[in-house]
Amino acid sequence: MRILFVGDVVGSLGRDLITEYLPKLKQKEKPQVTIVNGENAAGGRGITEKIYKKLLQDGADVVTLGNHTWDNREIFEFIDRAPKMVRPANFPEASTPGTGIVYVKVNAIELAVINLQGRTFMTPIDDPFAKIEELVAEARKRTPFIFVDFHAETTSEKQAIGWFLDGQVSAVVGTHTHVQTSDARILPQGTAYLTDVGMTGPYDGILGMQRDNVINKFMTALPHRFEVVEHGRGILSYCVIDINDKTGKATKITNGLINEDHPFRG
Ligand SMILES: [Fe+2]
Repeated sequence: MRILFVGDVVGSLGRDLITEYLPKLKQKEKPQVTIVNGENAAGGRGITEKIYKKLLQDGADVVTLGNHTWDNREIFEFIDRAPKMVRPANFPEASTPGTGIVYVKVNAIELAVINLQGRTFMTPIDDPFAKIEELVAEARKRTPFIFVDFHAETTSEKQAIGWFLDGQVSAVVGTHTHVQTSDARILPQGTAYLTDVGMTGPYDGILGMQRDNVINKFMTALPHRFEVVEHGRGILSYCVIDINDKTGKATKITNGLINEDHPFRG
């Protein structure tokens, strides 16, 4: 099984990159499952139903989310009728709509896709370690093919989840920090790991936001409203993971970028 995972789609520029490049990338890489993180897809914050449907139409099989899941009020209306969308699983169970795990069927194989959120320098929701242990045990009753999008701020928390799950899941890939790391590897027990896949959106902003406001915030320590960059050069960040069809263990992970410095080659 081959999985294509595309990192955090930011604003309209990110969505346009998906429309332009996702079909081409799929043609080149031939994944059986394509997963896209869409938590910044609506103007840099959250997602709408229309955008969710467009991501599916452009080739995503599952859309993952993160700390901006609830930024558009509309999410509360459509999340429970969006079967291909996962929000962080460790939001408090009793009060949170949506789901943290979805299953996708690939021929005779089932892939579980889990979204999980870190707590370090982020809203301290439920313990991601306890939650993932519980969810992986549940998923492994059905399938050894498990993909985890760990949406977290710190490298150490991401590495900790990666090692914690080594041999228990097929892949742990980080999102949220928007800059792709170069540490793609297969851990000793067969889990593919990448600290952060990077983002899909503006290439010349600061994490996708207009630079002036971010720089001024650092310089003045006064509140500034961040606005997403809507025009200019783009970057698409992704990784490709190969999984052994019998064992569910990863055999290869490759990270990739598409931008002016790394043009797409079909
Ligand atoms: Fe995020």
